[in-house]
Amino acid sequence: MFNLVIFGAPGSGKGTQSENLIQNYGLYHISTGDVLRDHIKRGTELGKIADAFISDGKLIPDDLMINILADVLDKNADATRNGVIFDGFPRTIEQAKALKTMLAERGTQVNAVIGLEVAEEELIDRLIKRGKDSGRSDDNLETIKKRLDVYHNQTSPLRDFYIAEGLYEAIHGSGTVEGIFADIRTAIDARR
Ligand code: AP5
Ligand code: MG
Repeated sequence: MFNLVIFGAPGSGKGTQSENLIQNYGLYHISTGDVLRDHIKRGTELGKIADAFISDGKLIPDDLMINILADVLDKNADATRNGVIFDGFPRTIEQAKALKTMLAERGTQVNAVIGLEVAEEELIDRLIKRGKDSGRSDDNLETIKKRLDVYHNQTSPLRDFYIAEGLYEAIHGSGTVEGIFADIRTAIDARR
């Protein structure tokens, strides 16, 4: 079993590189953003709560988000047998500690954290471009700026958290998708 966290700012390529990871390593992909957007689409109670936070570029509260993740893990116990790609989770130190506990309770752990590092101007360019046809309520300049602030204030401290755990692999996240994936592969294969 090999669990990895794909980590980085909004637009850094977490979703894009997850596609390559799924194909190459047969891991189960959990994108908390996708999970929440699916609830919004289905009009669930949770979707109504999530919609307000996402449209405003804010994080869903930790206790709620942690329960959602535990539920996804439990409902997909079979599919996650080979390991999981956590995309967009954790986003706070509290979530990272909860993930550690949750995995320990299931007899496993995070094996690597792939940190996609991309310059801010490029992140904004990518998200604005994507916003032209993504239909995402948070892909507009005002909300993109809020998401980046939230990333700097609440999420980027996780970089040091995972460096201290000996798990962080810094990956230069600009260039071709294939070139970046080659670097990710090298980092993962050294830990498998
Ligand atoms: P989430 O869905 O996780 O969004 P995000 O972190 O803001 O990141 P994105 O999905 O926008 O970017 P990405 O890194 O996946 O990049 P992508 O591959 O798409 O979260 C959305 C919201 O949900 C949060 O703001 C929050 O409200 C809530 N939420 C989610 N998880 C939560 C949690 N754990 N706790 C609390 N709240 C939570 O690439 C972006 C674009 O760039 C694409 O168009 C892509 O084609 C392009 N691109 C990718 N790679 C390259 C490249 N190498 N060169 C050029 N373009 C590229
Ligand atoms: Mg994404």
